[in-house]
Amino acid sequence: MSKSPQQKVAARRKRGPLSLLLIGLIAVIPLLTVGSAAYGAHLENNDTFCASCHTEPESTYVERVQTAATASEPVRDLAVFHAGQHQPVTCIECHSGAGIGGRIDALVLGARDLVAYARGNYPQPSPLTHPIADVNCVKCHEDYARNRSFDNHFHFFLPRWQQFAGDKAAACVDCHAAHKQDGLPGVAFLNEQRTVAQCNACHRVMGD
Ligand code: HEC
Ligand code: HEC
Ligand code: HEC
Ligand code: HEC
Ligand code: HEC
Repeated sequence: MSKSPQQKVAARRKRGPLSLLLIGLIAVIPLLTVGSAAYGAHLENNDTFCASCHTEPESTYVERVQTAATASEPVRDLAVFHAGQHQPVTCIECHSGAGIGGRIDALVLGARDLVAYARGNYPQPSPLTHPIADVNCVKCHEDYARNRSFDNHFHFFLPRWQQFAGDKAAACVDCHAAHKQDGLPGVAFLNEQRTVAQCNACHRVMGD
């Protein structure tokens, strides 16, 4: 006996495995794209790769990492300090967000930069159009606000200030500049003037 059209539709609906396979294939497409980006990601893990395009003054960021490694120069900035850790923190680790999503965003930004570079159409030094977001730091320093004693109050009140004042509140890097060499090495490379400006800005909003 041949099946009625309704029965055929019902049979097709039951063809679970095929539809599942299709859905699976569609889901895999973004992963393949990520796979081909992996070669780019491999290059981006290499600090000298960054210096291959970035000329003065940014290539000095890489140079400073290298001279500090041979101990011929004292460490004068936060980025070089990070590179000198037991497990060196690379350029891309600070310059990307958390998880795979953060890496992909950085790769997209990198692709845009690559196009600009290939066209010879870019300003030098490169302006920072994408500020380094707090998540870039907090992914490694997740316990920065855990200590609730007064000598850490500027950290644990920070999320509240940010909630209240949005972009006008300080981000990590407003106090913790990374490549400037005008900070105090004994105090986490903080520049006194820039830091105190942020202390006062928060006190104006949250202090009494
Ligand atoms: C292929 C050449 C090239 C390489 C390699 C490269 N960059 Fe760039 N980068 C550029 C160009 C060109 C710009 C400026 C783009 C513009 O302003 O249009 C830029 C901009 C930037 C900016 C500013 C981004 C913004 O808009 O906020 C940062 C930060 C940066 N690069 C960091 C890095 C780091 C870290 C690496 C290594 C992981 C790296 N770059 C490797 C060419 C390159
Ligand atoms: C208002 C300025 C300010 C802001 C904003 C700020 N910090 Fe700090 N940070 C400081 C000061 C001051 C110190 C203490 C330096 C010292 O006493 O050695 C410090 C120290 C640190 C240290 C070293 C702590 C230790 O015990 O060794 C880390 C890590 C740190 N900050 C991470 C962050 C992160 C992550 C953010 C953003 C979520 C941030 N900071 C935002 C001012 C700031
Ligand atoms: C500790 C985190 C950190 C590390 C490690 C780091 N950067 Fe940065 N980078 C920053 C921050 C924060 C800024 C914003 C400007 C500043 O604070 O000095 C920045 C800015 C930049 C800019 C934009 C130009 C400018 O000076 O504002 C470039 C290009 C750049 N970094 C390249 C590099 C390269 C190349 C390396 C590796 C040698 C590197 N960065 C390592 C945090 C980092
Ligand atoms: C890949 C992980 C990683 C990232 C990303 C990272 N850090 Fe660190 N940071 C470390 C390690 C490791 C140390 C050394 C051990 C420690 O003090 O915890 C350190 C130390 C520090 C210190 C103490 C410096 C001192 O003199 O003792 C500060 C301040 C700091 N980081 C701020 C930042 C800021 C701001 C960012 C984002 C721009 C950032 N870090 C991004 C891993 C990271
Ligand atoms: C995110 C906001 C914020 C930041 C950043 C901040 N403070 Fe404060 N600060 C406060 C608040 C809120 C109080 C009041 C605390 C209380 O009453 O318990 C305070 C109180 C103080 C006091 C006590 C003053 C008094 O009148 O009782 C001192 C001293 C102080 N802060 C120093 C600093 C320094 C130095 C920095 C920068 C390194 C700083 N603060 C950064 C929020 C902040």
